[in-house]
Amino acid sequence: MQVLLREQQWAAHLRAKTREGLESTPPWIPPVWFYDEVGSQLFDEITRLPEYYPTDAERSILRQYADEIVALADVDTFVELGAGSSEKTRLLLDAGVRHGRLERVVPVDCSESFLASCSADLANAFPSLAVQGVVADFTSHLGQLVHSDRRMVMFMGSTIGNFDPEDRAAFLRDIAADQGPGDCFLLGTDLVKGTDRLLAAYDDAQGVTARFNRNALTVMNRQLDADFDVTAFRHRAWWDAERARVQMHLVATRDTGATIRAFDDLRVEFAADEYLLTEYSTKFTAAQVEAELAEVGLAVAGSWTDPNGDFLLTLARGA
Ligand code: AVJ
Repeated sequence: MQVLLREQQWAAHLRAKTREGLESTPPWIPPVWFYDEVGSQLFDEITRLPEYYPTDAERSILRQYADEIVALADVDTFVELGAGSSEKTRLLLDAGVRHGRLERVVPVDCSESFLASCSADLANAFPSLAVQGVVADFTSHLGQLVHSDRRMVMFMGSTIGNFDPEDRAAFLRDIAADQGPGDCFLLGTDLVKGTDRLLAAYDDAQGVTARFNRNALTVMNRQLDADFDVTAFRHRAWWDAERARVQMHLVATRDTGATIRAFDDLRVEFAADEYLLTEYSTKFTAAQVEAELAEVGLAVAGSWTDPNGDFLLTLARGA
């Protein structure tokens, strides 16, 4: 396993971002705080909720088109950003092995422990492939990842929806700059659809998403030595039609405040109804994805949707 990012360094980066967010008006935090062990389990539960369609939709695209995608990509290396313990990745790996050219898979993740366990799982499941995990922050280490003449860089699950437009453009620019002549880029994006379904997906009847959202406060309490009163916040998701994104918030149900000891006792105060912004989940159209890729010099080589037209996979390469 290659380590481009030390756990310490990542923690420092995350803290700086979080401090900046908490000192902003309105305050926000990076969505990474969702994903401690409890949060990752809650996310897993979310993906199995009847209201949360993206995971099933992306999986159904891969079930149907993995062989076609892999044939079109025709690469010896998969580089998966935001790594792949998931069974969805395995559908592509299976197709890669069937296709015959695939030799190597490079899962990239910011968590060394998570990466170690998922690399081991992949190595077991795919004995014919070299599994070379890289601990990295893919927003700053792209240029240092494994290179071959033929790589497919994968960014699945519509994680790109978490970026704001500026960060997304910067990320796509970095991706394009890193592509060699035989490389390609596979991007998963959730598509715009009716508001009811979008909101239901982020505010499910069982309240799993609410627990997932509030868990970010518990994680910060533990890791930043903070004292957010988790019971003083409720989950709220809304659809920002202009920016085409679902926004998740934690809304104060009464006046409440917290001291963050890791930030020199920084105080944050919330009057009742004031909120903390915890996540953007941007939704796209196929035309917009194509335009944003074209903006950085990438051309669409193929694109695939599920039968409902809920989700999109796009394969792009240098124009
Ligand atoms: C993992 C970022 C794609 O935006 O749908 C699920 C995270 N947040 N429910 C998404 C999430 C609330 C998810 N991504």
